[in-house]
Amino acid sequence: MSTRLTWLGHGTWLIEAADKKILLDPFLNDQPTAPCKADEVEADFILISHGHFDHVADAASIANRCGATVVGIYEIATWFAEKHQVAETVGMNLGGGVTLPFGHVKMTPALHSSQLPDGGCGGHAAGYVLTISGQRIYFACDTALFSDMQWIGRGGLDVAVLPIGDLFTMGPADSVSATQLLKPRHVLPAHFNTWEPIAQDADRWAERIARETEAEPVVLKPGATWELAVE
Ligand code: NI
Ligand code: MN
Repeated sequence: MSTRLTWLGHGTWLIEAADKKILLDPFLNDQPTAPCKADEVEADFILISHGHFDHVADAASIANRCGATVVGIYEIATWFAEKHQVAETVGMNLGGGVTLPFGHVKMTPALHSSQLPDGGCGGHAAGYVLTISGQRIYFACDTALFSDMQWIGRGGLDVAVLPIGDLFTMGPADSVSATQLLKPRHVLPAHFNTWEPIAQDADRWAERIARETEAEPVVLKPGATWELAVE
């Protein structure tokens, strides 16, 4: 069994594992580089990292159409249940973990803000470590570089997905430092080239990762799938 990661552009990912479809931060309809629209994706679970529109925009419509469970920090899970009538939610908080049908989900801190689109309080921004079939996948989501990433990497990471866009999150140079702290086997870039202010040269970033870290860079185009083989 393998885990498939499909980049849907920006911070949006589709993870397929254990016959489940897991969407992270679905933002498709108003995202310039998205390879599909919100009504074209299916999901069993939707993970939300924080409250900004470019991470929550299409979550409620997909959840309510598919009957997906929305997972997020307590404030955001409650917001989806109360404001968007999402029937199934899992509220958690930083440092906490939960076992779901596809694997284990641990919520990690992120250094970022988290106001919801209607001005509501989104709690604290988060990332996730997913443990699926014994493999550990870290989605840093929107965050600055922070030195506790070395603890997130302790125990080994098969994959780290890091923002490289700069301006709203860490940029390419700090993502190289993050990779040095996390020590993942593979590192994938996200949250760039959506709009001009976060345009980045991913090939140049990959050259730096290859030269300055032990990780293997994997650069996807929006819509492309990368398969993480079980070894
Ligand atoms: Ni954000
Ligand atoms: Mn963002």
